[in-house]
Amino acid sequence: MALRNIVTEGDSVLTKVSRPVTKFDRRLHVLLDDMTDTLVDAGGVGLAAPQVGVLRRAVVVDTGEDGILELINPEIIEESGEQTGLEGCLSVPGKYGIVTRPNYVKVRAQDRDGNWFEAEGEELIARCFCHELAHLEGQLYTAVAERMLTPEELKAMMEEDEDQ
Ligand code: NI
Repeated sequence: MALRNIVTEGDSVLTKVSRPVTKFDRRLHVLLDDMTDTLVDAGGVGLAAPQVGVLRRAVVVDTGEDGILELINPEIIEESGEQTGLEGCLSVPGKYGIVTRPNYVKVRAQDRDGNWFEAEGEELIARCFCHELAHLEGQLYTAVAERMLTPEELKAMMEEDEDQ
């Protein structure tokens, strides 16, 4: 298990466009394994390679029941509907914003060995696909959020969490 350092807002690596993955080698597999370890350790839903300082088009998503999904060179090929809700990011700790995303998203991506496949998701997973793919374009959700939660709203949210 190897954890990588998660870079945070203000680091220029988060605003750059990532390059396609062209080598599906051991180096990529180590990166993906480390990204999964880092995601699970941080308790997040998704993590993109630039968030660990690597400008390559690779993403890991925790889909819950189906485990970790690795998306290499992913593209959105279909989307529909709309959802508006809370969004956060491991690279923007302690903040949340309100973001509108499609409610359904289908992506096309390669697996760690270079095989193309399609994956689809609704609600949280669709939101996560959009959020993580935006990282590969150097975009943070804070740039598309309708608004960020106020300190009062954050405090209320944390207290609600504690009550559960
Ligand atoms: Ni993020």
